[in-house]
Amino acid sequence: MLKIGILVSGGGTNLQAIIDKIENGYLKDCSIVTVVSSRPGVFALERAKNHNIPACCIPRKEFESLNDYDEALVEHFKKYQAELIVMAGFLSMAGEKFNTAYKHRIINIHPSLIPSFCGKGFYGIIPHQKVIEYGVKVTGATVHFVELEYDSGPIILQKAVCVKDDDTPETLQKRVMEEAEWTILPEAIKLFSEGRLKVEGRKVKIIEN
Ligand code: GAR
Repeated sequence: MLKIGILVSGGGTNLQAIIDKIENGYLKDCSIVTVVSSRPGVFALERAKNHNIPACCIPRKEFESLNDYDEALVEHFKKYQAELIVMAGFLSMAGEKFNTAYKHRIINIHPSLIPSFCGKGFYGIIPHQKVIEYGVKVTGATVHFVELEYDSGPIILQKAVCVKDDDTPETLQKRVMEEAEWTILPEAIKLFSEGRLKVEGRKVKIIEN
């Protein structure tokens, strides 16, 4: 059984997609052992509680340095014996301590096709605003292993979504979630749980079944 720890900061629709795929049997031998939010009062915590998953808030604001925050997160995930950490709409970052403790065992979903529309300041609705401003015709989502620089680690899966002429950031965000994020995040977890991801430098090889 793969023990998964999930980090959230908001509504938790990606968390919900993972919960649903565990409950419908798509993610076999996976269990969410803890959900941690960087912000208090977010709906993602309610979603976890509704499914009897231990959930708590470790507020980023209460820690002076990223190093201190990292220590608190590592201690928490060790206590729950988490083996894979999933950033499912987590809007803080993982520092050196956290990265070292879980090297290539932290994955993140980002709402654009990395390396476009990513990096510091590109989170939540912002990548979709920038996509529309720039006028690109195709965007999407990316699941990648986390490394120290924002959105920089080896890419596991990507899925493209077409931008429509009349899209607003909100309609585009919704479609990227529905058509890409809620599919590729559980798929990446499935591949990880089956031991089918092999990191070779910047590349992630997917081992065939
Ligand atoms: C998602 O679109 C996710 O890709 C994005 O925040 C949203 C969270 O939604 N993450 C980032 O921007 C990370 N840089 P959710 O709370 O409903 O899953």
